[in-house]
Amino acid sequence: MTTIREVAVQAGVSVATVSRALSGNGRVSARTRELVREVAVELGYQPDDVAQSLVGGGTRTLAMVVPDITNPFFPELVAGVQQVADARRHALWLLQSGDDPARAAGLLLELRRRRVSGVVLVGGTLPADQVRDALREVPLVTVDRVVPLADVPVVTSDHREGGRLAGRHLLGLGHERIAHVGGPAHLDVSAARRQGLDDAMQEAGTELDPDLVVDGDFLEESGYHAVTDLLARRKDFSAVVAANDLMAIGALRALDEAGRAVPEEVSVVGYDDIHLARYVRPGLTTVRQDVGELGRRAVQLLLDRPAPALTVLPVELVRRGTTAPHRGRTAGAR
Ligand code: RIB
Repeated sequence: MTTIREVAVQAGVSVATVSRALSGNGRVSARTRELVREVAVELGYQPDDVAQSLVGGGTRTLAMVVPDITNPFFPELVAGVQQVADARRHALWLLQSGDDPARAAGLLLELRRRRVSGVVLVGGTLPADQVRDALREVPLVTVDRVVPLADVPVVTSDHREGGRLAGRHLLGLGHERIAHVGGPAHLDVSAARRQGLDDAMQEAGTELDPDLVVDGDFLEESGYHAVTDLLARRKDFSAVVAANDLMAIGALRALDEAGRAVPEEVSVVGYDDIHLARYVRPGLTTVRQDVGELGRRAVQLLLDRPAPALTVLPVELVRRGTTAPHRGRTAGAR
């Protein structure tokens, strides 16, 4: 089997230059890269990942850390990451951190020990200084939920605009009593969506009633219990904005069990546009994130430095069957 050293001798360059030329990592002139690649093909050289990890200072393995693989948003995000990792000939390890800071810190430490080439991290579980302490010099990009670290690129959606779009849509349909099922309050994505909804309501001369805001955990059950609670407390609302689609689907079940027709009596808007959003009946009106593109951009920024500090992707409102003009009745009135 041809070794990297034989390629280097034949091409008249160092072993490190051969590794950089073949991996696409680091500076090599186009002429040298072409020469090395021709010699490698001529000698039938097959890069050995272990050899590369010894010579190139890192494996061709990327790692992605997400909080919850049971939430359909994250597998769609991973699919975007995988697409570019495959195209750039990197293996991808997928790890789930949960909401457990100690677990997340342990995973990041292990990734540093295993000399991965880079990490794509969904933030929100660990404080920024602990992320830096664990990963040290390992290349990092944070996606979706931000980790505020200097020299760490961020890729996310315009979540405040997403909240505004949901609010403007419902206000345009005549809804003023709008309930909000928020995401986990400590997450930047939750606060941005709630702020955007409040922005839209203030633009219309009203405001988000704190009594109609219940925080959830981004899973269906919390959306179900939030709306059940609002109905039990006989709160008047004619629309619900949920901070993600899973909680919106939970809200639909609560309204159905309470005999509230959607959208005739109560309109519902979700957020993400996961695959399921078009399969609930009626189809869920929601704010769409370009989740695949979030993932693709994250890997591109990880592998192609220098990278812009912040990339914000636009969101869009997808109108389906869970929203309709307000007909004068509210959910609490009976
Ligand atoms: O549905 C999960 C939510 O958490 C999404 O809205 C996404 O932005 C992530 O942060």
